[in-house]
Amino acid sequence: MPAAPLLPLNDGKSIPSVGFGTYPMKDQQLETAVQAALLTGYRLIDTAASYENETNVGNALQASSVERKDIFLSTKLRGSDQGYDAALRGLDASLQRLNVEYVDLYLIHWPLPAKDLYVESWKAMIAAQKDGKIRSIGVSNFKPAHLERLLQETGVVPVVNQIEIHADFPQNEQRAFNARHNILTQGWSPLGKGLMDNPTITQLAEKHNRNPAQIMLRWATQLQIIPLPKSGNPDRMRANLDIFDFTLDADDMAAIAKLDTNNRLGGDPDTHEEF
Ligand SMILES: NC(=O)c1ccc[n+]([C@@H]2O[C@H](COP(=O)([O-])OP(=O)(O)OC[C@H]3O[C@@H](n4cnc5c(N)ncnc54)[C@H](OP(=O)(O)O)[C@@H]3O)[C@@H](O)[C@H]2O)c1
Repeated sequence: MPAAPLLPLNDGKSIPSVGFGTYPMKDQQLETAVQAALLTGYRLIDTAASYENETNVGNALQASSVERKDIFLSTKLRGSDQGYDAALRGLDASLQRLNVEYVDLYLIHWPLPAKDLYVESWKAMIAAQKDGKIRSIGVSNFKPAHLERLLQETGVVPVVNQIEIHADFPQNEQRAFNARHNILTQGWSPLGKGLMDNPTITQLAEKHNRNPAQIMLRWATQLQIIPLPKSGNPDRMRANLDIFDFTLDADDMAAIAKLDTNNRLGGDPDTHEEF
């Protein structure tokens, strides 16, 4: 399977337009899955310190025939490591578990506004990027107010904002904000819940001779969202990457746009706590 096309980041680097989600896989299941994903053609691997699977991701990278330089490795700062010094320590621990000298992308996992440490964490990431431990820096689950503060206090714009996105929770306003600031949007839980049987999706799947997951992932990429589908199943992994040889037309996209019910499945970043 050809790798997903690349998209430009605002810092001059580039990122694959589809990634492989690793949560909640762990241990041998995760190592097998990441190796299979790399063989299938995935080049962006998404993990996080809080997934407690970084060591397994590192083992899979070591065992793979795909070279480190061809892999875009992304991990995230966990809540308990927020703050300037703690973030530097958290990053070093992730690098050690992943058994790599640098990550391609490091994200603040959640803003945790009650802790009010995300600006300090961001400053540490800016410093670590200068040290070569991180190629690109970004955030996850940030709302406009959180992003505005980073911009005001540091002037350094994240390259991506990884947020919950699926057809019934497309986050149009947040995505427009990201785009205005030249921040790419990554989408977590891109397949949503209960959407596989949605008649709009199944009819489009029939029309394009694809499966429902492929319709939802193609929809995301056509909106410049980088989806991060997770699958432990090689056939589904392959299908989830095989989405670049058909196009949803304007009517198809309009039909999916009607599914927006603001159906958030995960935490609200204003209140979500993560450790
Ligand atoms: N930044 C954040 O706060 C955050 C939060 C949550 C998740 N994430 C990231 O986003 C990734 C994806 O999110 P997610 O795992 O919640 O949701 P998802 O990728 O939308 O859905 C995963 C589920 O869909 C199934 N699936 C995958 N491909 C399929 C297909 N083609 N047909 C039918 N079923 C399919 C998987 O089962 P099988 O494995 O059996 O195929 C699994 O049960 C995570 O792995 C993680 O890396 C980030």
